[in-house]
Amino acid sequence: MSKEKSDVEIKAFVDELMGKMTLEEKAGQITQYFNFLRVPEESRRVEAELAAGRCGSMLFVPNAEDINRLQKIAVEQTRLGIPLLFGYDVIHGLRTAMPVPIAVAASWDPDLAEEGQSVAAAEARAVGLHWSFAPMVDIARDPRWGRIIEGAGEDPYLGAAMAAAQVRGFQGAYVGAPDHVISGPKHFAGYGAAIGGRDYDEANISDNELWNVYLPPFKAAIDAGAYNIMSAYMGLNGVPATGNKWLLSDVLRDTWGFKGFVVTDAGAAYDLCTHGYAADVADAGLRALDAGVDLEMAPPFGESAYRTLPQSVAEGKVSEADIDIAVRRVLEAKVRMGLFDNPYVDVKEAEAVLTRPAHRDTARRAAERSAVLLRNDGDLLPLPRDLASIAVIGPLADSARDTVGPWIFEQDDSETVTVLAGIRAKVGAATRVDYAQGVTLPGRYFKSIFENDEHKQTPRPIVDDTIGIQRAVDLARKSDVVVLVLGEGQVQIGEHASRSSLDLPGRQQELMDAVIGTGKPVVLLLMAARPLDLKGSYTRALMGIWYPGSQGGAAVANLLFGDAVPGGKLPYTWPRNIGQIPLHYAQLKSHKPDWAAERYWNEPNSPLYPFGYGLSYARFSYANLRLSASAIAPGATLTVSVDVTNSGKVGADEVVQLYIHQRHGSSARPVRLLKGFRRIPLAAGETQTVSFPLGPDELSHWSAASRSVVLDATTFDVFVGGDSTADLTASFDVRKG
Ligand code: GLC
Repeated sequence: MSKEKSDVEIKAFVDELMGKMTLEEKAGQITQYFNFLRVPEESRRVEAELAAGRCGSMLFVPNAEDINRLQKIAVEQTRLGIPLLFGYDVIHGLRTAMPVPIAVAASWDPDLAEEGQSVAAAEARAVGLHWSFAPMVDIARDPRWGRIIEGAGEDPYLGAAMAAAQVRGFQGAYVGAPDHVISGPKHFAGYGAAIGGRDYDEANISDNELWNVYLPPFKAAIDAGAYNIMSAYMGLNGVPATGNKWLLSDVLRDTWGFKGFVVTDAGAAYDLCTHGYAADVADAGLRALDAGVDLEMAPPFGESAYRTLPQSVAEGKVSEADIDIAVRRVLEAKVRMGLFDNPYVDVKEAEAVLTRPAHRDTARRAAERSAVLLRNDGDLLPLPRDLASIAVIGPLADSARDTVGPWIFEQDDSETVTVLAGIRAKVGAATRVDYAQGVTLPGRYFKSIFENDEHKQTPRPIVDDTIGIQRAVDLARKSDVVVLVLGEGQVQIGEHASRSSLDLPGRQQELMDAVIGTGKPVVLLLMAARPLDLKGSYTRALMGIWYPGSQGGAAVANLLFGDAVPGGKLPYTWPRNIGQIPLHYAQLKSHKPDWAAERYWNEPNSPLYPFGYGLSYARFSYANLRLSASAIAPGATLTVSVDVTNSGKVGADEVVQLYIHQRHGSSARPVRLLKGFRRIPLAAGETQTVSFPLGPDELSHWSAASRSVVLDATTFDVFVGGDSTADLTASFDVRKG
């Protein structure tokens, strides 16, 4: 729709509409309510606010029938008939669950990320949603933080690529494109740096890390056209992000030229009081508006900060013109999404979109390409097809709810393929596949905000762990191979799910060690989204399968039997234990770089697995690294080329990675920085030349010395290989300007 209306026409339409609006109606347009339909008394209150013209947007209404019903109230019962803007957390799918975002990041395949979010957008738009609160682009370098699952890991370059790709997938060619929705990158900014990995705790981030690590993925998302940004909950350097004018206005609008609208996280405007920043709810409304917030999400009912704005105008504390700026941005989003032309959706068509076979194919391929093979001694994988018996063991092996992961509320468990179901569907009648849960995953010591029956929690059977472990051992003993599926339950990671341990929850470690003790070959599949501490317990094969989504079991079965080849790479550093945290690859040299591995006297400081690491069923080698020049002028671009060979027996993908190190300059720079990657398919025996540009975009950085972006005259080392420890290297100079 929006392509039929020019910016001039859109402005004229909005100007005319605003000319008719009362101040209270304007305040209503910049207020968004949760509508938890399963809580009737609250839903009724929200709908009364809607009918009174005091609600411009809603979230958590995920189906076409209710969206049409509520839209009808907005259009037919309110004085001006302004349609509602519906937003929702379509983080990794709506009905078809893709693997969780950090899994897709582990594919190192931005095109896949774009495809996955375009499927999510099609399903969302089909039910009448206009906007997804995604992608989450927070860099996470502390795996205790549960929301590491929602982003792209520790690195800003990989994070920026995934952010931009997801925005393209959600929004399509323009805001309002058919089958697409507004993309709302979040949480602006620095949320992943919460102290101790404790969700919601403050983040104290140096300018050096803000500009070089935490902000770049947001900039990439905005450059890709993101039309919304969500401000974060937490305090940033002493100022709550949602009241932080430097962040929401100076950086976002004045420096980056963001043209869309800013929404708070849920209740975050009201919470400016809770932070001890705003004096009261009216002050919170004034300071959020002044900082640059356009839409207040989900205030605690009756505590809306933006509902106090008309009173603040009457008291001369804010001008109506200031409120108009926010109202205009929200109305423009509605015009661009075509809501004034057609606010309703076709309910029948929605179901057809939600159940599209092509969507499941995308989900399965995404799960196959996200898996990270960490060990495969003696080439245990892929498994032979003629096994007589396979023991599938573990509390996550047959749990549909855990297989799709958190932030999925509309899944139908019967449509989810668990690991057990995938294996059973894969093998022939001659192969016996038996299952033993082994142990029960412990709940959290507090009830998760998302742990309730409406979210279709698959009730997980409770077993007596001691008996369960013995049964699992007995089953393992009479099987050819064991496929062990362990990790964290989906409520043990994500929002409000940080952990002070990286151990396997419950008695899973005991289960694993008992099964290993049988001497049978064990394939350990980790259903997790942070590095876990397996205490050194050894299994011949170890593969991270993440929370692989609706088709996860089908994908895992393909990977286990070689119909798909794992090619994923870790999007984070895997520490040996929690004591090493924070541990990431892009650290500065320090004055004793040779002692890096000896930072602790009691154990090596090296990671268990490095950033970018992942194995394959093939073998890759790198040779003939060459640069197009040995020195370049500042502003020029040099090409790095390398030959990659698949010396294995099967065709497979390799993620070729390029890292740089700046030897000296206006500030000290990390030992390595990812500045290029490409996932390429290679047939057995094939050699391909892969080239990367290195120019100002890759070689510049924000310097804490000059407090500006600089491209130093210096020497750069280049490293190319299959992970961040790549040792194939060359160097070049950037001459003085
Ligand atoms: C949550 C999350 C945010 C989400 C919002 C709406 O608390 O922080 O990521 O989009 O509320 O569900």
